[in-house]
Amino acid sequence: MSRKIIIDTDPGIDDAMLILATLHSPEFKVLGLTTVFGNAQVEDCALNGLRLVELEGNGHIPVTKGCGKGLIIPTEEVGTHVHGLDGMGNTNQPLPKNKIDPRHAAQFIIDTVLANPGEVTLVPVGPLTNIALSLHLEPKIISLVKEVVLMGGSAYAPGNISPVAEANIAHDPHAAALVYGAGWKVTMLGLDVTTKVAMTTDYLERIYQHNTPATRLLQQILPCYQGFHDLFYGMNGTIHTHDPSCLAYLLDPDLYTTQSLPMFVETNGRCAGQTIPDPKQQWGRLAEVNVCLEVNSQGVLDLLFDRLTRS
Ligand code: RIB
Ligand code: CA
Repeated sequence: MSRKIIIDTDPGIDDAMLILATLHSPEFKVLGLTTVFGNAQVEDCALNGLRLVELEGNGHIPVTKGCGKGLIIPTEEVGTHVHGLDGMGNTNQPLPKNKIDPRHAAQFIIDTVLANPGEVTLVPVGPLTNIALSLHLEPKIISLVKEVVLMGGSAYAPGNISPVAEANIAHDPHAAALVYGAGWKVTMLGLDVTTKVAMTTDYLERIYQHNTPATRLLQQILPCYQGFHDLFYGMNGTIHTHDPSCLAYLLDPDLYTTQSLPMFVETNGRCAGQTIPDPKQQWGRLAEVNVCLEVNSQGVLDLLFDRLTRS
């Protein structure tokens, strides 16, 4: 039986890779995409969610729109310098055919978890605002969600949106603090592992050779993302593997070395968004997070290659 998941996402170029690869994975039943601001404005992220499910005949999957800004900190800027003004690399994709589901993303999460107690895995790969709002509105979901497997944060690697913070957490650190501290099982795929998995131009070219609707879309949108990695890190066409790492973990957790660590989320000041492990519990009792610290990067690349190129 396939595993039920909700992807909470800000598509977003690497979000698109995750979504397309997951839709090629019969191990999962995607109950819905819930969209949030982050890589672009939430309106654009929601439209991109619809485009992605429709691309290869999955238009029956509901796509909802959620929060357009953080819970407390006003959103200063979204990640359009990384993902393009449209979140899809400035490629002007055609308008989707279907409509966005009228429910707020947080309500969709609540309704779906209550209707499937103990069965739903949440896969957040954007700012955690929708997830925090849903557990605030209906705390019962905390014990009813199977687990949370998220892309965000960093235990020991440097940040990407600031010297210390990863973008998804920094966009809404208050939401992240609520989600990390809720008491449900959280697995964190942060920069410690996502920056160790490098998709090279050769790897991407081999994906494009499969010439499917998914690979053709990736070929259009990825140059923008590569451009950012080149400008910021001098990576010469290679990209980090952020959001798709959640799929690799869900399919084969043995690709990762994990450690359960008490985790603090800084919500204030210059270091807002920093996720700090406190293994000796010097800051009192903090919720433990299952943190991915090491990765079999070739194993992840092989797995994702297979899933991205399936039709
Ligand atoms: O830091 C990487 C994360 O920020 C990814 O989820 C990417 O899509 C952006 O949202
Ligand atoms: Ca994302």
